[in-house]
Amino acid sequence: MAIWNLGSINADMVYSVPHLPGPGETLAADDLSRFLGGKGANMSVAAARAGSHVCHIGAVGPDGGWAIERLMEYGVDTRHIEQVATATGHAIIAVDRGGENMILLYPGANQVISGDGISVALTAAQTGDTLLLQNETNAQAATAALGARMGLRVCYAAAPFDADAVKAVLPHLDFLILNAVEAEQLADATGYGPEALPVRDVIVTLGAKGARHFDTNTGETRLFPAIPVTSVDTTGAGDTFTGYVLAGLDRGLPMAQSIMQATRAAAIMVTRHGTADVIPDLKDVQEFRPD
Ligand code: RIB
Repeated sequence: MAIWNLGSINADMVYSVPHLPGPGETLAADDLSRFLGGKGANMSVAAARAGSHVCHIGAVGPDGGWAIERLMEYGVDTRHIEQVATATGHAIIAVDRGGENMILLYPGANQVISGDGISVALTAAQTGDTLLLQNETNAQAATAALGARMGLRVCYAAAPFDADAVKAVLPHLDFLILNAVEAEQLADATGYGPEALPVRDVIVTLGAKGARHFDTNTGETRLFPAIPVTSVDTTGAGDTFTGYVLAGLDRGLPMAQSIMQATRAAAIMVTRHGTADVIPDLKDVQEFRPD
């Protein structure tokens, strides 16, 4: 089985700051580091590190060769990443001393991925493979529809959240992940809470409280508590969680086991500074001994 991820690829410029800046404020950073990022790339790396075969579908600019090389180094299949004339996406990320962040995105090449390139990539997908999408690329609805027609497990990470973007892919989804505030916003926009959405599996993440899974077929819900750790940087922790859950399912693990493994991976991730480059691998996750 494989995971096909239509996902963003960014250069993350991460600034350590004493506090998150307010409107009109000029703030000096204590430190600057560059990481591979983008919610899509983070999820691809997480799923690859969790043991899945991951084919990333996306685009970088003429300046983005380093990002493709790094994805390859992390075990991601990069054959379907185009190089386009538009500059590679980037993110300016401020992280405060408590580990909270603020992100400013320049989408760049992530918004000009060619529809033909996506269709060609997916010709190699097999029924039962996973198709993953997030809200940082173009062509989400058309790709979700194609994936559903092909019998792929269509999964959507609703981040950055936009109710209209979710509504556009909703008829095609098998799996949806979003946070509690977003679940309320989606309920306002659709009239459906997570338990009533027309999506087989819904996960609502609850930050430090963990995550709740809704099996809308059986009506069962289950809370998976988070593992308490001292957080230094929450950036990319949600992406790590999503990548691990989907890799678990792709590798045939039951939902509960996939979520528990993802919870451990996300707990490790918040103790590290950075994004895709520092996502834990399966060995880290298995050896992890929380305090
Ligand atoms: O979720 C974290 C990610 O959001 C960062 O890597 C950044 O690039 C933005 O896409």
